[in-house]
Amino acid sequence: MNAADKIGAGLDRVLTMELVRVTERAAVAAARLRGRGDEKAADQVAVDAMRTELNRLAIKGTVVIGEGERDEAPMLYIGEEVGTGKGPEVDIALDPLEGTTICAKNLPNALAVVALAEKGSLLNAPDVYMDKIAIGPGYAADVIDIDAPPAENIARLAKAKGVPVGEVTACILDRPRHARLIEAVRGTGAAIRLIGDGDVAGVIHTTDPEETGIDIYMGIGGAPEGVLAAAALRCTGGQMQGRLILDTPEKVERAARMGVSDPNKVYRADEMARGDVLFAATGVTDGNMLSGVKFGRNFITTHTIVLRSSSRTVREIKARHQDLDKF
Ligand code: FBP
Repeated sequence: MNAADKIGAGLDRVLTMELVRVTERAAVAAARLRGRGDEKAADQVAVDAMRTELNRLAIKGTVVIGEGERDEAPMLYIGEEVGTGKGPEVDIALDPLEGTTICAKNLPNALAVVALAEKGSLLNAPDVYMDKIAIGPGYAADVIDIDAPPAENIARLAKAKGVPVGEVTACILDRPRHARLIEAVRGTGAAIRLIGDGDVAGVIHTTDPEETGIDIYMGIGGAPEGVLAAAALRCTGGQMQGRLILDTPEKVERAARMGVSDPNKVYRADEMARGDVLFAATGVTDGNMLSGVKFGRNFITTHTIVLRSSSRTVREIKARHQDLDKF
C-alpha cells in the first residue's frame, strides 16, 4: 500500500468508506424514532447500531469521546475498546445521536457522528461544558479570539469577509446562559440563528456559509461535542478555539485525571484533534447541510459527509439502501 494511503502508523483510506456505514446505520436506527418524544430510546438504538458497526471495523479502537464515563454508560463508554482488534490502534470520538431532543421533536440538524484518529491524538475531554468560537476556512489566523468581546469578533469577521456587520450571521445555542452574548451580538447589527440543540452541526455550518447561512459559531456547549466539531474542522479547514469550563474543584480534578494540566488552556482545533483525522456525519433529521433519513417503500436513503484531514477531501454520499435486512 502506498504510504500516502495511510494515516500515521497504518490506517488506510478504505476506512473512510467504512466509517460511512457506521454513521449511516446509527442514523437510520435513530430516524425510526424521530418525533416520538423519547430521547432515551432514540439514543439507545443509535448507540446499539453504531457499536455493532464499529465492532466490524478492522481496527483496535478505543473510545475517548463517548456516551459517558464507564460507570454511567453501559455502551460506547470512554475507554471501551471497539473493532475487531486486528487493525491499527486508533482513538474514536463519537456521538451516535447528536441532538437527542432534536430527534425526539423531529426538528432540523440531528446527526449521527464519528471521528477517528491516530492513537493519542484526540483531546480526552471530560463531560463538562466548553466555551467555543469557530469560523470557516479562508481567514487569517487572528480573526477570532475567544477572549475578545463578542462585538469585536463579529466586527473583525465582517471586515475579513468584506461585508457590513449586518450581513454576518452567528449561530448560538438558545440558552439562558447566553443572554449577554446574544445581546452583545445583536447590538452589533449582526443576525443570530438560535438553535435549540446540536452545536456540532452549528460549528460545521460555519465551513459553508453560502449553503448554511452561518458565518460564526459562538457560545457554550458540551466539551465532547467540541472535540467532534474540531475533528470536522481539521478536515474542512476553518478555525476553532475552545476552553473547558472547569468551574468546580471536582471538575478540575476530573479533567486532570484525563490529562488536562492547565484548566484555563485555550485549545485550537488542531490541539483537540491532532494528526490525521477521519470524520463522518449522517443526517438523522433534515438539516442545513444534510438531508435526514428517508424511508421509501422498499428502500432507505441516507445523506452523509465524510472528511479526511490529510487530503482535505469532503465527500458527500447519498446512499439508497435496498438490502433492508441490514438495518
Ligand atoms: P445531546 O445530543 O446529548 O442531547 O446534546 C445536544 C446538545 O445541544 C449539544 O449539541 C450541545 O453541545 C449540548 O447539548 C449543550 O448542552 P445543554 O443542553 O446542557 O446546554
